[in-house]
Amino acid sequence: MPFTIVIGTQWGDEGKGKFVDLLAEQQDIVVRYQGGNNAGHTVVVDDKEYKFHLLPSGVIQGKRVLLASGVVIDPKVLLKEITALKEKKYIINLGIDVRANIIMPYHILLDLAREKAANKPIGTTGRGICPCYEDKVGRRGVTFFDLIDPVRLQQRLDVIYPEKKALLEKVYNEQLLSSNEQIISEYSVYGNQLKQYLTDVSLELSQNSNNKILFEGAQGTFLDVAFGTYPYVTSSHTIAANAFVQAGIPSEKSMIIGVAKAYTTRVGSGPFITELSADNYNKTENTSDSANNALIGDYLRKQGAEYGTTTGRPRRCGWLDLAMLKESTRLNGFTALAITKLDVLSGLDEIKVCTSYLFQGKPLENFPHNAVLLEQCAPVYKTLPGFKLTPELIKNKTLPENAVQYLRYIQKNVGVPINFVSIGPERSQTILYENGVE
Ligand code: IMP
Repeated sequence: MPFTIVIGTQWGDEGKGKFVDLLAEQQDIVVRYQGGNNAGHTVVVDDKEYKFHLLPSGVIQGKRVLLASGVVIDPKVLLKEITALKEKKYIINLGIDVRANIIMPYHILLDLAREKAANKPIGTTGRGICPCYEDKVGRRGVTFFDLIDPVRLQQRLDVIYPEKKALLEKVYNEQLLSSNEQIISEYSVYGNQLKQYLTDVSLELSQNSNNKILFEGAQGTFLDVAFGTYPYVTSSHTIAANAFVQAGIPSEKSMIIGVAKAYTTRVGSGPFITELSADNYNKTENTSDSANNALIGDYLRKQGAEYGTTTGRPRRCGWLDLAMLKESTRLNGFTALAITKLDVLSGLDEIKVCTSYLFQGKPLENFPHNAVLLEQCAPVYKTLPGFKLTPELIKNKTLPENAVQYLRYIQKNVGVPINFVSIGPERSQTILYENGVE
């Protein structure tokens, strides 16, 4: 099996970056295929922390890293990441698909203006992701092919710019500060600086089909534009099958690793059934103590440093939701699971796991296909005993029996072997279970 695909099983921020970095050692090529700098990956090596928004996490391992046609790229952000790594003497072996769409300044302004104007904002990252994808499918996008040729860029923008200016000014009452000429001259410089990295990812992957190739998913399954908690989703397909579409290669049987946090987090708006917050208490079974719920949510946020890598926003925290994990497995076809941040649960007396949902008081068989329906669900919980992970246990990679029981419970319910368990941010703080947790 030449392909490995790493996918977030929840709403993003599952800790995929650490796994991609870990797995990249055995790979020849690491490919990002969707999303943009709305993503944020943190990799910790020898106490040093690296944060990426665009570059695939495999870059630290010195691998060939590719940004496929489906990634939307803010050239300013990409250049900053390249410069930062070069300053640390990393060799960057990057290829960018010439078809990839560029996030332009008006995309960012439109993203922010829409959120400001909305009565129910999505809580986007404000990085221009949705307006850029809209332009891509609306055939108004600027690709790298346009960016590297000032004449072509001018021809594209002469058509696009007046529409964006009118939209911003007339509909949203916002100013597009740069003139068309200013944008062309600024972005032509970026094109010139990034030209050296351009490639045809589709062709390159076909020509290297004997290589080991890892696809690094961004965001998570429930942010998928079709199969997530629509409309509170991102604007790309985050599920595994999209890797092949965006890379432009035929699909093949692959190792598909679902990365799940040992609990659940979400940034931005939208339903979150197992959320541990004061105002979600009335939905939870057997819980009369809203303050206690909020306290556990705060505990997870603090222990897990649950603040967005991209925006710094505090993440909403809650119990693990197996109904989500099972649906995620159905959508992606996971062959293995990686459980991250198990150490964050350490110290709690008991741990709840949502096993299924009640819809209008009745058990629900299939996962709701829309946020409106999901909002009306209530969780059914199983309570498991808590555990304590001491620094000594972490160092020796030994788990207390209750922690193993928690993992076994997840594995049995989801029906996919847990092959990796992360108990700290370092590469070394990972336990491998080749045959699943026994
Ligand atoms: P957008 O992708 O910036 O349009 O934001 C749409 C939704 O996806 C918002 O709820 C964001 O918070 C969420 N989102 C986008 N990227 C990520 C990510 O990498 N991790 C977690 N949430 C994300």
